[in-house]
Amino acid sequence: MKVAIVGMGKIGLPIAAQLLRRGFEVIGCDVNKGVVRQLNEGKVHIIEPGIENVLKNAIKKNKFHATTETTSAVKNCKVAIIIVPLIVNKNKKPDFSAVDAATISVARGIQKGALVIYETTLPVGTTRNRLLPMLAKHSGLSAPQFSVAFSPERVYSGRILQDLRAYPKIVGGVDKKSTNAISGFYKKVFGAGNVIAVKNSETAEFTKLAGMTYRDVNIALANEFAKFAELSGIDYAEAAKAENTNPFSHLLLPGIGVGGHCAPVYPYFLIENAKKLGLSLKIPKIARDINDSMSGYALSKLKSAIGALKNKKVLLLGLAYREDVKETAFATSLLLIEQLRRAGAKVYVNDPYYTNGEIAKFNAIPASLDKLPEIDAAILVSFHRQYKKLNLKALKNAGTLAFIDGRNAFDSAKVEKAGMKYIGMGK
Ligand SMILES: NC(=O)c1ccc[n+]([C@@H]2O[C@H](COP(=O)([O-])OP(=O)(O)OC[C@H]3O[C@@H](n4cnc5c(N)ncnc54)[C@H](O)[C@@H]3O)[C@@H](O)[C@H]2O)c1
Repeated sequence: MKVAIVGMGKIGLPIAAQLLRRGFEVIGCDVNKGVVRQLNEGKVHIIEPGIENVLKNAIKKNKFHATTETTSAVKNCKVAIIIVPLIVNKNKKPDFSAVDAATISVARGIQKGALVIYETTLPVGTTRNRLLPMLAKHSGLSAPQFSVAFSPERVYSGRILQDLRAYPKIVGGVDKKSTNAISGFYKKVFGAGNVIAVKNSETAEFTKLAGMTYRDVNIALANEFAKFAELSGIDYAEAAKAENTNPFSHLLLPGIGVGGHCAPVYPYFLIENAKKLGLSLKIPKIARDINDSMSGYALSKLKSAIGALKNKKVLLLGLAYREDVKETAFATSLLLIEQLRRAGAKVYVNDPYYTNGEIAKFNAIPASLDKLPEIDAAILVSFHRQYKKLNLKALKNAGTLAFIDGRNAFDSAKVEKAGMKYIGMGK
């Protein structure tokens, strides 16, 4: 069976690899000519283990090629999986431009009996009310002649192939026939026991939004508890670990901020959905605000430790929104750069996944750990694996007075022993 995957990014490419491993033929579709060219040369442009060999073997056996011609690709495939980005704009409203464009390209190619699957996270109702009519209009077919479902992608970058096999695939169609046909396809990919068919596409869309919002809200709660713990002389992480031995407790850890194109985005999908129903969802919005305020909170602690930030040199360890990814969407580093610059500080950034040129585009000065500039403070923003052996002595020797451990990754005693003030979250 031939499958077209539309969007060959951090998620689309690993999905392609999983399908290739299961013997499917895959056409990777992307609007980015550079990505298409690299993939056709067997080069992987994302940071994800386990992909390159699968891709190279598949190219050799003529089981994979990439193209910018989505419509022609879809004409030759039974299945089309759409996994392009959908985030919110400055006004926190969903920006459907990529998913709409992908839908139109797919629609122009679909044949009778085709299966169209959305894996891009969508606001509730989008598959049925926005995308299904678009598919029908641009294909000239009517809904029962092809199947459409939403199936959320729940993987975590850095271990995607592992997650794809571990987590059951949730599927909800726009009608029963679609749910059955698309569940049947996923059973071939992931095994019969690994597919959960839910009642409809709305239920499937809601699962992902609810899951991410749950996580964001619980991180916000941990952030508030962390502030309480600090004022009470309690180590929050110690308390949470002890309490989590109760099976009813799932206390998460606090941090300097929540980034990426999931947690900072999907609560707003839900908030918008609710507004249209005349409902105001309060907790998700409060949680978003709390999590976005953590970078400012951390800087206020830095100010208490080393004085006004004007003319201070501050090094951010990590530009990416979290460890071991190359992605800056809604990253905490961006909030920190903006706030530090506004306070008159000079901002340096080190991130092993970015070139100096890439870092410079974010209004920061690239810094090498091998030849550190003179700095007054360092902030751990993303705990990349390269930072596990961070040379604390070298940081101290560069002039660092205070070290903000934004990810609760370092032993406070070791940091203090190296001669820096340790500023933790919830400690
Ligand atoms: N990255 C994650 O951790 C993650 C986790 C779970 C779910 N998701 C879902 O996956 C979606 C995609 O995320 P990603 O990280 O793969 O994004 P990405 O930016 O890495 O890749 C998206 C790709 O889609 C391509 N594209 C954009 N418009 C297109 C179009 N009209 N036709 C064809 N290709 C097009 C882009 O060129 C890009 O290569 C997210 O919006 C989210 O819904 C992501």
